[in-house]
Amino acid sequence: MAQIIDGRALAHKMQAKLADKVAELKAQSRIVPGLAVILVGDNPASQVYVRNKEKFALAAGFKSVTLRLSESTSQEELINIIQEYNNDDSIHGILVQLPLPNHINDKKIILAIDPHKDVDGFHPMNTGHLWSGRPLMVPCTPAGIMEMFREYKIDLEGKQAVIIGRSNIVGKPMAQLLLDKNATVTLTHSRTRHLSEITKQADILIVAIGQGNFVTKDFVKDGAIVIDVGMNRDDNGKLLGDVHFEQVSQVASLITPVPGGVGPMTITMLLEQTYQAALRSVSK
Ligand code: GUN
Repeated sequence: MAQIIDGRALAHKMQAKLADKVAELKAQSRIVPGLAVILVGDNPASQVYVRNKEKFALAAGFKSVTLRLSESTSQEELINIIQEYNNDDSIHGILVQLPLPNHINDKKIILAIDPHKDVDGFHPMNTGHLWSGRPLMVPCTPAGIMEMFREYKIDLEGKQAVIIGRSNIVGKPMAQLLLDKNATVTLTHSRTRHLSEITKQADILIVAIGQGNFVTKDFVKDGAIVIDVGMNRDDNGKLLGDVHFEQVSQVASLITPVPGGVGPMTITMLLEQTYQAALRSVSK
């Protein structure tokens, strides 16, 4: 039976440390890290994420601004708002919740964010830094997963790491972070043939495909470490990972649960990066 990687406990510990660092920064430099979160429309999942970001930001002593805009907000209006936050010295991190309504081009929105305030690490300048091995702002979900590996003393050197899902938010940045730690990385996706044969080679399997219970025990090698990024709902509205937990926990050595695994770490890294941005603004 696999050991559980407790993301909630690690997030709690890191956020408590962060609250201390925020208090110290306030006392020393009178700077309060400020995070602006922008939500366009009323996607129910996004509303939950945004509410949680606000709750944890406030708990850690941050200034938190949440802007809820109507579905009909134009691209130009959104860019103007981003530019105001770019120029606002009390805001160190800007996050525009994805997905955006169809009439808004998310690439243009990401480009409008000052890369130094891009706490999601989505701006091409930050992806470029990441791929050239000098990361500045890193997408929060893969950054949180790397913290889990650190906490659980998982040595990645020379290991076979397989990622399912090639998104800009998780799969691609995850590949680069694992490469930085000398893992051998395979990036698979919806068109990959003979997927389970590839995933069965994995010492470390990271699943971000967005389909509930997709990875059954037939995909997993005995003793593998399995990280589940999925956040799906079943017919009764119950939260469901991409990994069939009951089955896979029989064969894996370590596994993240859903909820209480990767999710809390994503928010923690968002706060951590906002704090780091605030710190850099002091020495500017
Ligand atoms: N939607 C799902 N995950 C994320 C994320 O990490 N950042 C943003 N901005 N939107 C998301």
